[in-house]
This record gives sequence, C-alpha cells and structure tokens, in this order.
Amino acid sequence: MKSLLTVEDLAVEFRISNSKLRAPDGISFSVMENECVGLVGESGSGKSVTALAIMNLVPAPQGRIIRGKIIFEGLDLLAINKHPRGTKISMVFQNPMNSLNPNIKIGKQLTEVLQEHYNLNYREAMERVIRVMQELGIPDPEKMIDRYPFEYSGGMRQRTMIAMAVLCNPKLLIADEPTTALDVTIQAQIIQLFKKLKEKSRTSILFISHDLSVISQIADRIIVMYAGKICEISPTTDLFRNPLHPYTAGLINSIPGANERGTKLMAIPGNIPDLTNPPEGCRFHPRCSRKLPICSRKEPPVILYEQRSVSCWLYEGVNT
Ligand SMILES: Nc1ncnc2c1ncn2[C@@H]1O[C@H](COP(=O)(O)OP(=O)(O)OP(=O)(O)O)[C@@H](O)[C@H]1O
Ligand SMILES: [Mg+2]
Repeated sequence: MKSLLTVEDLAVEFRISNSKLRAPDGISFSVMENECVGLVGESGSGKSVTALAIMNLVPAPQGRIIRGKIIFEGLDLLAINKHPRGTKISMVFQNPMNSLNPNIKIGKQLTEVLQEHYNLNYREAMERVIRVMQELGIPDPEKMIDRYPFEYSGGMRQRTMIAMAVLCNPKLLIADEPTTALDVTIQAQIIQLFKKLKEKSRTSILFISHDLSVISQIADRIIVMYAGKICEISPTTDLFRNPLHPYTAGLINSIPGANERGTKLMAIPGNIPDLTNPPEGCRFHPRCSRKLPICSRKEPPVILYEQRSVSCWLYEGVNT
C-alpha cells in the first residue's frame, strides 16, 4: 500500500493570555491510499487541531505549527504555495452550521464550491450538485436545492456538508465528528455513505471521533490520541482483540456492550490534564492503573510491532 498522507512530528502551539499549550505535540502517522484511518481521543486531545494543521488552517495568531512536516502525494503541504484544500483534500468541519452560509440557498452554495475549482457553467455545476446530493441520500434534491440551511434537519445539513466536501472528488477526505449529535439511525446512514465513498471513489478518509464504537464501524486502522500525544496506532481488529496501551483498553472497556464477560462498564477515572501544564513523563500516568515508576519521570518510547505502534513503558524490551 502506498502512503497518501504522512504526518511527521507535528506540533501546534497555542498562546492563551500568559500561558501556552501544545496539542498535538509531536505526532506522526500516515494515511494510505484508499484507507480509512480513525482518530479517536477524549475531548481536548488535539484531534481537530491535527485536522486543521493538515488543511493549513490553524487559527492564527493564537495558534501556530511549530514543528513537523505534512507530506501529501510527496509534497510538503507546509512548504508549498498552493495548498490542495478544496480540491485534493477536503474537510467536513466539526460544526456544520459554521460552514454553511445561513443566507444562501443550499444549491447555490454547493454550485459555487464547484465553480470555484472547475470551469463549469451554472447548469452543469447544478447538475453535478443534484447528482451528488442524490448519491448521498438527500431526498428530492431538485426541490432541496432551493431551500436555506435552517430549513434542513441536522442529518440533512450533515449530508450537505459531506456533499460539499466530496463535490470535487478529493483524494483525502477529513471528517471531523461527522456523526456526533445525530441520532443512531442517521449516524449509521452516514457511516454507510462514507463506506460507499471509499469503495466507489477510492477516497482515503481520516475519520475523527471521540467515540471509539463509531470509529470501529468504518476505520481500517485507528490512531488513539491522548492529551496531544499518540498512544497507539493499530489495525481496528487488532486494537479490539488486543489493545496494547492501557488508555486504549480503558476506551474499549467504556463502550457499552463491548465487555463480553458481562463485567461492569468501566469509565476511565479522572480527567484529561490541563495542557498548559501537562504531567511529566507519560501524560496518561496519573490515570493509568498499570503505571511503573518510570512513567512519571520519562516520556515513553514509541515501540513498533509489525503494523502496530504503541507509546508505553510496559512494552519496553518486551516481544509481543
Ligand atoms: N483557537 C484556539 N485557541 C486556543 N486554544 C485552542 C484553540 N483551538 C484548540 N485549542 C486547544 O487545543 C487543544 C486541542 O483542541 P482540539 O479542538 O483539537 O480538541 P479535540 O480533540 O478536537 O476535542 P473535541 O473532541 O472536543 O472536539 C485543546 O486544549 C484546546 O483548548
Ligand atoms: Mg474536535
């Protein structure tokens, strides 16, 4: 498999009044061609900022990429003049209402996106918009194009955001919490949409969610993030069969129904640390039930096993 996107040692710093925080803080991962990679972690772990960094849309001046490389199709996205945003890479943002203009009819907004990048007249663009809306299961697209965003339900708006992101046939689609706040039926439909997109158009997807059970339905591989760092990267089946990092195990344990032996659902005790003053050593150690003395002193190494990687002292010098 060929890598489409490679992120190397990426760090983003935010300055807030007198303090600063880094999230992500030195993360590395790849997305292969025609692969769906899930990015999971608790609120505030740095998932959205990672996505924004790939889009080169980190909000300045408070935020800044301070380290790292983002290589897409062999080009360093942080060094080139014209970012392939909107054409080869597109993103479904976490808050769809912020991305749709409330005063412009949906059809017009979508055709404008298409016309910005392609030499199409209004009718040709509208035809493609209607076709994509149809493919995404928006009923009666000919009628729906004449409506305003507020006239759409939450699920419809979410589909419209996805339509907007796939109109230009991107090679990489970043979807930031695309199903959060939707009911489970719509959630399942949207996941089906992404699966179809991956199969039909061979799009690679970076699927972001705080919900591991949602991610497990679509991702080929999963990146587990905690407090700005990556804990583990594993193929989905391996991750569930044998989670390596104690944080991953905790996330799996807190999924309702995931516990086969019928033991009690276990939430991970405690909260994500204040990133302006993160714990020394492994950032997860204050909440970890398997911590060793070294965990509070030294940052864990990244240990590689075949297709997996884990950042945890438990595996130092261990062959699994
Ligand atoms: N514009 C900003 N200014 C200051 N700090 C920010 C800004 N955007 C993000 N941060 C901080 O960066 C960290 C990572 O935020 P991010 O939005 O990436 O989290 P997330 O993992 O996407 O969380 P969620 O699941 O809630 O969406 C957080 O501590 C957040 O407070
Ligand atoms: Mg987010």
